[in-house]
Amino acid sequence: MDTIFRVELDLPSRSCLLKTNDGNLIGTYPYVWLRDNCRCDKCFHPSSLGRLVTMANLDPDIIPDVAEVHAQTLNIRWPDDHRSQFPVSWLQENQFSNMSKDPVSTPVRQFWGKEMQHKIPKFSFQDILHNDKSLHDWIEALQVHGLALIIDAPHKEGAILEIGKRISILKMTNFGNTFQLYSKPGAGNLGYTNTELGLHTDMTYYAYTPNIQILHCIKQSSNGGENQFCDGYKVAEDLRHKPEVFRILSTTPIDFRDWRTDSDGNMFHMKHRSPIIQLLPDGRFKAISYCDSVRAPYIQIPVQDVYTIYQALKMFNTELYKEENIIEIKLIEGDIVSFDNQRVLHGRSGFTVTETSTRHLEGAYIDWDEACSRMRVIREQMFNQKPL
Ligand code: OGA
Ligand code: ZN
Ligand code: ZN
Repeated sequence: MDTIFRVELDLPSRSCLLKTNDGNLIGTYPYVWLRDNCRCDKCFHPSSLGRLVTMANLDPDIIPDVAEVHAQTLNIRWPDDHRSQFPVSWLQENQFSNMSKDPVSTPVRQFWGKEMQHKIPKFSFQDILHNDKSLHDWIEALQVHGLALIIDAPHKEGAILEIGKRISILKMTNFGNTFQLYSKPGAGNLGYTNTELGLHTDMTYYAYTPNIQILHCIKQSSNGGENQFCDGYKVAEDLRHKPEVFRILSTTPIDFRDWRTDSDGNMFHMKHRSPIIQLLPDGRFKAISYCDSVRAPYIQIPVQDVYTIYQALKMFNTELYKEENIIEIKLIEGDIVSFDNQRVLHGRSGFTVTETSTRHLEGAYIDWDEACSRMRVIREQMFNQKPL
């Protein structure tokens, strides 16, 4: 038998109290919130799920004339005679104590050091393409660890476009939708040479830095070309024990810049400045931005502070390269390494290029907005959840 519910108008809290018939409180629903979230066709557009009630027409002091529960529905008549109906099930789903607990937006990150070498989460390319749960779990691994490997992709260009389609879209940058990394003469970017690349995050000169990076190994060099990875959040967390260094790294904006001309002849001069360690207002990490090759010579600080900032940068770099913090992997053809570009720093060993030995990676970026959206949609489908 269905539980019987009743509603009380509680004037001091300006709320409807939904209770079971024997008095257990199910939820407290403020009058103004109920009026704002009326789901009738005049107040809420059913196909776009957009609110039609405007703030201009909403009275925060509104009080229902009548509120009653009939047949598992809360019926409200407002002073202007407008009627709202809220299924009790909907009210239960929307209890205030449950709101905004979106697990996708609040991942619990696990920082790592060298032990990650043998524990990198692995997913098969075919699974990511054909199995929603694998796609979800891959993105979740990226949220938690900031690093994951996709294996057994085809050894040709285009595989990461397929991954991009599974998310929805890749993040377009001035390198295009995807980019081809192989060494070429007169390279406009150090990535396109065969030299070693120190640990860095990509595109620090973008205010809107790409979030996730994926690199697909199409051809590996027979000599060199290993990749190094380091959890920048773990290093930053360790540096909290050196408060002055941490303060300098998290408050001093460092300038980054890049020039390039794309294949259509568009010339770019990108500039952005941000601290190496970026924090959220509550002190958690927001991003790491670090790349020697595009760090600008100008530093907008008093000249007498220059020595100290270099000391702090050096300290950060030393921590990155501590044996306990770094892992190295040599991608094999068909591997796609994916990482949180604003958390996990990546580097590359130099490699030799000969007539018979080249190296070719195809890369792309994905933003968290679309990746998290895909996770939510998959979860909603798996658990048969309706969007609120
Ligand atoms: C880069 C880069 C990695 C590699 O070009 O920014 O990190 O393995 N390349 O070539
Ligand atoms: Zn309405
Ligand atoms: Zn890079």
